Amino acid sequence: MNRIKLICPVCGEGLMKKEKSFVCPKGHSFDIARQGYVNLLPVQNKHSLSPGDTRDMLGARRRFLDSGHYTLICNDVSEKIRSFCKEKSPVIADIGSGEGYYTAHLKNSLNAECIGIDIAKEASKMSCQRDRDILWIVATASHLPVADSSIDAVTAVFSLYVNNEYARVLKSGGIVVEVTAGSRHLTELKQLIYDEVFEQHKQPSPFGDEFELIIQEDKSFNAALSGQELKDLLMMTPHIHRINREQSERINNISGLDITVNYIIRVMRKL
Ligand SMILES: C[S@@+](CC[C@H](N)C(=O)[O-])C[C@H]1O[C@@H](n2cnc3c(N)ncnc32)[C@H](O)[C@@H]1O
Repeated sequence: MNRIKLICPVCGEGLMKKEKSFVCPKGHSFDIARQGYVNLLPVQNKHSLSPGDTRDMLGARRRFLDSGHYTLICNDVSEKIRSFCKEKSPVIADIGSGEGYYTAHLKNSLNAECIGIDIAKEASKMSCQRDRDILWIVATASHLPVADSSIDAVTAVFSLYVNNEYARVLKSGGIVVEVTAGSRHLTELKQLIYDEVFEQHKQPSPFGDEFELIIQEDKSFNAALSGQELKDLLMMTPHIHRINREQSERINNISGLDITVNYIIRVMRKL
């Protein structure tokens, strides 16, 4: 963990590891939790008591991702870093890292030094079980506790695009690899829930002058899901907050479904 430079979320000075804490020269101190993560989310950056995904959502995400249905996406993100990142053993910040599936894969497949950042404390806690050699941090993407120009690649997989912060933490020539849902993503699941499904022409958020677009691809594949996998997938999506009891029962009563996975992957380079 020598190349990852953390900064104090209160004053912005560099953080140093000292026994079981990270401390800054001004005396702000942050304990390393028993599980191994560090909470660098000050209360003023917290917009609710428990921000981010809940334990149930994270548990469903872990079961679903471990079933292997999104391996193609995971390999695609690794391949983009291998092809477009100049550093062969890169320092990667995975933003909105969830329960750590993609972060752990990136570390192992690229011999990378990784930091996984998520606003949900439960996400960082769960991620420690995946890999204790990754630095798991509770923080918000809009105030990353990471030094300027210290990162080779930022990844954001189904999470957030925060242009200014990604530009600040990346080295010149560093890259962002972002995955967002495409227009046909999970159409069959939506058809099962809603009476009418409108195709939305989704595009990723615009990026600023600090970046140039290197590649953008719209990709799809099909996955045959069991009933349990379908329920877990639903728990991972925003639809779980919108459905009523009848719609939820429709999902509970189904024994399996073939779904379309449609994602947009893009790589931007910091100029
Ligand atoms: C859809 S999940 C994706 C998780 C992971 N990348 C994956 O694909 O498995 C989005 C994640 O972003 C986190 N999140 C939401 N708002 C955030 C913020 N402002 N800063 C950092 N993480 C955030 C959530 O807690 C959640 O774990």
